[in-house]
Amino acid sequence: MLKAYIQQNRQRFLDELFELLRIPSVSADTKFDADVKKTAEFVKKSLVDIGIDKVEVIATKRHPIVYGEKMVDPSLPTILIYGHYDVQPADPLELWITAPFDPVIKKTEIHPEGAIFARGACDDKGQMFMHVKAVEAMLKTTGLPCNVKFMIEGEEEVGSENLEAFIKSNKGKLAADVILISDTGMLGNGTPSVTVGLRGLSYFEVEVNGPNRDLHSGLYGGAVANPINMLCSMIASLHDGDRRITIPGFYDQVLELSKEERAEMAKAPFSEENYCKALNITATVGEKGYTTMERATIRPTLDVNGMWGGYTGVGAKTVIPASAFAKISMRIVPNQDPHKIAQLFQQHFESIVPAGVKVVVKPHHAGEPAMTPTDSLEYKAASLAVEESFGKKPIPIRSGGSIPIVAMFEKVLGLKSVLLGFGLDSDAIHSPNEHYGVFNYFKGIETIPLFYKHYAQLKK
Ligand code: BES
Ligand code: MN
Ligand code: MN
Repeated sequence: MLKAYIQQNRQRFLDELFELLRIPSVSADTKFDADVKKTAEFVKKSLVDIGIDKVEVIATKRHPIVYGEKMVDPSLPTILIYGHYDVQPADPLELWITAPFDPVIKKTEIHPEGAIFARGACDDKGQMFMHVKAVEAMLKTTGLPCNVKFMIEGEEEVGSENLEAFIKSNKGKLAADVILISDTGMLGNGTPSVTVGLRGLSYFEVEVNGPNRDLHSGLYGGAVANPINMLCSMIASLHDGDRRITIPGFYDQVLELSKEERAEMAKAPFSEENYCKALNITATVGEKGYTTMERATIRPTLDVNGMWGGYTGVGAKTVIPASAFAKISMRIVPNQDPHKIAQLFQQHFESIVPAGVKVVVKPHHAGEPAMTPTDSLEYKAASLAVEESFGKKPIPIRSGGSIPIVAMFEKVLGLKSVLLGFGLDSDAIHSPNEHYGVFNYFKGIETIPLFYKHYAQLKK
């Protein structure tokens, strides 16, 4: 009945998502503030239209939060859906084959049924909207086996700053039994998985200042410390020959996996060759003693996200720049504490300043890692839902990405999150030509009601 309803409304479910994808809700850039607001209103309307109660757009200091609920029976468990309607900037625009906010379906090697190309198609408008359509389908057919609350924010891609305050001051309103999120990926369309861990994040901007003005590199070169050269050596020193991070104490809190856990992880299908081919790289590089999968999920990292300074215009200008800048982030894993790591980074970076320059270290956002144990009732319900939907037991995976609010949900609301994501790594989230499989969109809409069903049964 449910499946038939989804099938009958297939085209409309796509059309509605397309409409949502056409609004450029880029949270990072104030130029899009009106569009972000418009998107919140769109989400509100889509909840009202399917019969959700108490739907509201709640203003914050920056982007609004959309809330709504359907309490069918107080004796049933309550599922709190979290998602985000904001998207990453689409830049660099020239690398998009079709326009980022003009969704189209195109076939790809991995998505023979077609994929929806648009910024936010996978992260997270497409995945968030699956929940709206899944609830619609349940309301129109079987009814809801659980109560549901929606909390859809517009600041995920910029650190969820105002959501934190919102959940702290709305604990009663958000009271639930579990949080359900589709904002992660799975191993493959034929290899379903459920995410059981996320990395955290500690992000910095650093500045190295040298002379009081840009200098002629012939007159001063060789005698004055060049801030860019100095910043490069400082950054280079943050890894040793084994690609381990050299910040003292950095690894102290890292949860090491047992041999058995690592062996279990290694069972997930993975081809080093295909991985390199897909990225057009000649080899993978990372911490000694760990596999590519481990490096990208269970191990902490340090990366420069951007670096600038000096002359970058056309032609050559002979100059020693006055300053150099870099954005540096660390992905952290259980049980590292982002604040502790931030402190270690700052102390260390300030301690390695070469003579002749000064540094300024400015912390950006921090987010904690998170885990959902596989022996939890929450995970079991997700596993049963995926097994029923895909005809295969999912593989539990830890992901390298971050959703900092997940740890906050546990801390503030005492709730575990189920990370039931349907994206693929190759969907190019945050990159040009982001897309989301049509198969994945509808498989998500079909799987979500099964989570409600199994969760309600297990909670009895
Ligand atoms: N949905 C992603 C995170 C993600 C993607 C987790 C795939 C697991 C698998 C989310 O929107 C995101 O991009 N998070 C940011 C962190 C945030 C603080 C900007 C990230 O991971 O960089
Ligand atoms: Mn996301
Ligand atoms: Mn994202």
